[in-house]
Amino acid sequence: MERCVAHDEFAGKSILITGAASGMGRAEALAAAQGGGKVWIADVSEDGAAVADEIREAGGSAQFHQLDVTDCAAWEKLAMTIQRRDGKLDGLVNNAGISFRSNIMDTSPTDWLRVMDINLNSVFYGMKAMAPLIQAAGGGSIVNISSIAGMLGYFAAGYGASKWGVRGLSKVGALEFADMDIRVNSVHPGLVDTPLLNSGSATFVEQSLGSVPAGRLAQAEEIADVVMFLLSDKSRYVTGTEIVVDGGLTSGGLYHRILQDLHEGTSVR
Ligand SMILES: NC(=O)c1ccc[n+]([C@@H]2O[C@H](COP(=O)([O-])OP(=O)(O)OC[C@H]3O[C@@H](n4cnc5c(N)ncnc54)[C@H](O)[C@@H]3O)[C@@H](O)[C@H]2O)c1
Repeated sequence: MERCVAHDEFAGKSILITGAASGMGRAEALAAAQGGGKVWIADVSEDGAAVADEIREAGGSAQFHQLDVTDCAAWEKLAMTIQRRDGKLDGLVNNAGISFRSNIMDTSPTDWLRVMDINLNSVFYGMKAMAPLIQAAGGGSIVNISSIAGMLGYFAAGYGASKWGVRGLSKVGALEFADMDIRVNSVHPGLVDTPLLNSGSATFVEQSLGSVPAGRLAQAEEIADVVMFLLSDKSRYVTGTEIVVDGGLTSGGLYHRILQDLHEGTSVR
């Protein structure tokens, strides 16, 4: 993190980010702190403490709290801690998630439930526990991290269903919390260069890149920029919608691949 605070967009604001020990969550935590916000870094991994240290060493404000997002009671406990320390919360990013690339026939009921628990139930627990604290701030913003797997047909049963669920639940939240001046939106990243993406098959990533018009993976900071927009007042009239950040994959990936094949003479016109 750069030592100087670049701007004060989030000065006086408390922002909670789950899964902030790694990848996109970490990039979002650094960006929110750079904007002058106090960042609550929540992760099941103790690596989150190092991210909080990094922010504090650079002059920012951060607090690590170990949280398993599948534990409803632990969410309530965190809400009480934030209430005690800050009295309110201005922003929540439900970012924690796992990848599970498996089709219906190969997914065990146990794996199905685990993916739903981490990727979807957590978002329900998080919004339920934190909405009163955001209301106490006079309103704020909730950003739920879905995926392009929540925009189209996807081959992975649990992951695809959980990410469509995040998209739908975000719209419910936007409707329900509008009276409290709480905006709720979902972000749908494509292929982002993080440990999660790289934990799977390299061939899958390589093949998928052929359908990305931008021709490259996204960097975590490029997703964080969009999340910061949604957390900030610049998006004050944006709620109940989804923002796709995928280098054009879901919009034109099919034709990008066809045109590339034509250029290479591997397709017949
Ligand atoms: N990387 C991609 O290409 C990509 C694309 C689309 C969507 N996403 C989504 O973006 C989000 C962040 O992914 P990433 O790529 O940065 O992954 P990552 O693996 O780098 O980070 C995920 C973080 O979530 C934490 N986490 C996992 N289970 C948890 C639990 N039960 N409780 C608390 N924290 C937990 C991990 O410890 C880790 O720090 C996920 O929701 C993922 O589904 C990722």
